[in-house]
Amino acid sequence: MTGIKLGVLVSGGGTNLQAITDSIERGKIKGEVSVVISSNERAYALKRAEKHGIPGVYINRNNFKTQKEYEEHMITVLKAYDVDLVLLAGFMKVLSPVFIAEFRNRIMNIHPALIPAFSGMGFYGSRVHKAVLEYGVKVTGATVHFVDEGADTGPIILQEVVPVLDDDTVDSLAARVLEVEHKIFPEAVRLYSEGKLVIKGRRVLIKNGK
Ligand code: GAR
Repeated sequence: MTGIKLGVLVSGGGTNLQAITDSIERGKIKGEVSVVISSNERAYALKRAEKHGIPGVYINRNNFKTQKEYEEHMITVLKAYDVDLVLLAGFMKVLSPVFIAEFRNRIMNIHPALIPAFSGMGFYGSRVHKAVLEYGVKVTGATVHFVDEGADTGPIILQEVVPVLDDDTVDSLAARVLEVEHKIFPEAVRLYSEGKLVIKGRRVLIKNGK
């Protein structure tokens, strides 16, 4: 198999994992998902991995004395699969500098809002959309960014806006944001795999703009 080797970290339904595997199957991304690691034994994402013949590993944080040992184990697994790029696809745990240093500028996260709004500690999953509706903003969206030591603070790769409608609920808004996530996450991976992303300080430039 030539192309990029992806390691995907998940905790839940795995629709973003699905979007990545679909893009690979359609030939948009040249490469493979080499391994899926879940923090949750019952994550539907593990079933999706199985359906695609991708190794899926459940790693239980409670089996490790410290966060460092937990992360070192994940690093060992990712290295065993020779992973080039780590994707946080609905991974609901914060990673420490130990993990970030091992894969510097080689970890991408998808966030369901327009960072820096509605991001950081405590902003994950449906909580993000609830906060968006409570605040009353007229637009939200999705962001793909490189992961650094902070919570949702790394250089932004792609963003796309989603309008907030008067009759939106957390679920309807989450569904429309997910559609955009499924577009921009695979696109960011494609750009990375083709060597088109250049990090300049906080900015990520796209070579030739596509
Ligand atoms: C997605 O909306 C993703 O952006 C969000 O969790 C959902 C996972 O869905 N991630 C975060 O909130 C991380 N801070 P999925 O399991 O169907 O891909």
